[in-house]
Amino acid sequence: MNTIVHTDPILVLGGTGKTGRRIIERLTKRGIESRVGSRSADLPFDWLDRTTWVPVVQGVRSVYISYQPDLAVPGAVETVQAFADLAIRNGVQNLVLLSGRGEEEAQQAEQVIKDSGANWTILRASWFSQNFSENFLLDAVLSGTVALPVGDVGEPFIDTDDIADVAVAALTEQGHAGQLYELTGPRLITFAEAVDEISWMSSQSVNFEQITPEQYSEALGQYGVPEDVVALVMYLFTTVLDGRNANVADGVQRALGREPRDFSEYVRDAAATGIWNGPK
Ligand SMILES: NC(=O)c1ccc[n+]([C@@H]2O[C@H](COP(=O)([O-])OP(=O)(O)OC[C@H]3O[C@@H](n4cnc5c(N)ncnc54)[C@H](OP(=O)(O)O)[C@@H]3O)[C@@H](O)[C@H]2O)c1
Repeated sequence: MNTIVHTDPILVLGGTGKTGRRIIERLTKRGIESRVGSRSADLPFDWLDRTTWVPVVQGVRSVYISYQPDLAVPGAVETVQAFADLAIRNGVQNLVLLSGRGEEEAQQAEQVIKDSGANWTILRASWFSQNFSENFLLDAVLSGTVALPVGDVGEPFIDTDDIADVAVAALTEQGHAGQLYELTGPRLITFAEAVDEISWMSSQSVNFEQITPEQYSEALGQYGVPEDVVALVMYLFTTVLDGRNANVADGVQRALGREPRDFSEYVRDAAATGIWNGPK
């Protein structure tokens, strides 16, 4: 595919997060100027403070949008709409949206981007493999017990390195505008199987335990997790993991012409960093 010549920086929202950080790394390696969009960036960007938006989009033609905390939370669709409108008014021409599989509200946000008037690419991702090693489930793995309200439903965990590769392709090459890429790993794995693989490869004793949604919600509350985040996590574990996503898709193959990374490759590489070797 032909490369797009970039003379202006590419804005990466969530540029210090699991996907954004990897996108920034790849752009930097290619010598393409990028700008991190996050609250801690040199030029701070906050989804909750619209006065921060204009300075960050100025002089930018392409934006990777990773919304926080999730496109499924109330108000997300309207906020994404407002951001897209503002970005386009300020000269942005290309929008690449990170979306979630099986989330009705995320699909509404996708429609907002499709209707925005910009060139668009949608990355509709399954659960990230890196949830087990980069926040979210890391503490549970390190505690030796991953207790979740999910049974034997299979999930095609996607490696965030693959998401970043697709995002960079969409941001820097022609041929991805107007494409919706459903990004999954190559096979279905249950959460219990995922934890078994991590335990085996890291030589640490980590067990999976299925608990009820009520037990999980109570545990999150006791852990000090805010109510709106508890509601989001419960939604992700119950509605989104009801079997609707128990199938693999070909987005990585279509976008990159190669197979997605297997969960085992992720586990091998993460284990090699020693991330799961903390004290129990
Ligand atoms: N995890 C999954 O399995 C999964 C699956 C599919 C889709 N997704 C989607 O992925 C997105 C999360 O992406 P991620 O996992 O790459 O992020 P992440 O690792 O959770 O990192 C969060 C990023 O967003 C920034 N951020 C947090 N609050 C912000 C705010 N109020 N305003 C602006 N920036 C803020 C953070 O930087 P600062 O702290 O500096 O602001 C950081 O760069 C969500 O939209 C989610 O729906 C996740």
